[in-house]
Amino acid sequence: MNRRTFLKAVAATAALGSAVPTVIRAADAKPVLLGGKPVHTGGWPTWPRWNEAWEQGVLNVYRSGKWFRGSDKHVETFETAFANLIGAKKCVTTTSGTTAMTVALHVMDVNAGDEVITSPYTFIAPYNVILNASALPVFADTDPATLTMDPVSIESRITDRTRAILPVHIFGSPCDMDAINAIAKKHKLAVIEDACQACLAEYDGRKAGTLGDLGCFSFQESKHLPAGEGGAVTGMSAELIDKCNSFHNCGRSVGTYQGKGAFTGGHNLRMMQVQAVILLQELEARKQDILSRCANADYLGAALNKIPGIATARLQKNSRAVWYLYPFRYDAQQFNGLPRDKFVKALSAEGIPCSAAYHEQYNEGLIDEAINSRGFKRLWSSAQLKTYRDSFQELKGTQQACATVVAIGQKMLLADRSALDHIPEAIRKIQKYSAELAKG
Ligand SMILES: Cc1ncc(COP(=O)(O)O)c(C=O)c1O
Repeated sequence: MNRRTFLKAVAATAALGSAVPTVIRAADAKPVLLGGKPVHTGGWPTWPRWNEAWEQGVLNVYRSGKWFRGSDKHVETFETAFANLIGAKKCVTTTSGTTAMTVALHVMDVNAGDEVITSPYTFIAPYNVILNASALPVFADTDPATLTMDPVSIESRITDRTRAILPVHIFGSPCDMDAINAIAKKHKLAVIEDACQACLAEYDGRKAGTLGDLGCFSFQESKHLPAGEGGAVTGMSAELIDKCNSFHNCGRSVGTYQGKGAFTGGHNLRMMQVQAVILLQELEARKQDILSRCANADYLGAALNKIPGIATARLQKNSRAVWYLYPFRYDAQQFNGLPRDKFVKALSAEGIPCSAAYHEQYNEGLIDEAINSRGFKRLWSSAQLKTYRDSFQELKGTQQACATVVAIGQKMLLADRSALDHIPEAIRKIQKYSAELAKG
């Protein structure tokens, strides 16, 4: 208990008169899992955020009967606004972050039998999109200090089939893009940024989504700029974005991309007008939220780093992370061997919802399903697929990240600082009682 909460508790107790003791019972100061009271009871900000003033805009779209991309201009207006927001040359929207990456992989010519080097420590979408392109996701290792792709591990994984690198700015923290781009240039590989968690993240004065050949964003409900679902591909080449636009719109000719005939190969991955209207209306408010999150993360991180056994993620030089989840590394040794999962349970019980974030997903069904499929067996020899599968054991940095990270959700970073103070306070309480908790 810090001085502020102590004084608050004493004042509240005094206000109730002599019927209750004027000192806080020692048991209350214990962790909830040992019978004490939670540090935080006030709840946390909710997400997504709605404003009633935006409802007319949504109704107008439905009443106009102009619902699809081709019927009105809202989607194009948002694309221009989003490109301006991140300093990209151009943007095309899609139905999701997943489909944004599908478009980007196609346009960067990732084909059946190719290999794409990506981050294993991520939400599952990059695995899926690469596999769905009948290509193999080859995993670079994770730097456990930054939790992003470790560039040192990339070159040894390049083969004559490697076509692209797909780094994930996980948690909204930019990867080491100078190093990644240098390797890509040397080996003539495309770079596709997964910036789905990284809206307005910065690296060396530039925003995520402008750092590689193409950048991919998600506007899914939990993201920093949500529309329920939705996505975007961004980049610094109008020609590439026009190609993306064509592919997402059934292969129609667009701008500089005239294709061959009325249609070239394509998909239907178009955003709806109503999604664009929501995104346009909330853009300024969500931008402010991102800035608040960044400031609050700095405030929280400073307090967390003072706790022995807790270390926040290191950022790349001159970069700004925007924190889709806010992660920190947990060292059980400093908590009397209390296992990470028990720590997560104990902290959650204190009113601080948290999780272990990402796990070793490459050991799960989707990779085995793909490499045992008829198609993959045609594209790679069984010896190649065995070597590939065995190589996952080398991902030592990723294993470390998966075993030690604890993360809180982005909406918690929008809370008052008095609520944020409860997070280090609850961790210190758990640390104090960690030996007892470890026995339970
Ligand atoms: C890192 C990352 N990449 C890709 C995606 C996919 O985005 P969507 O859910 O819009 O398809 C997500 C979504 O959570 C994500 O976190």
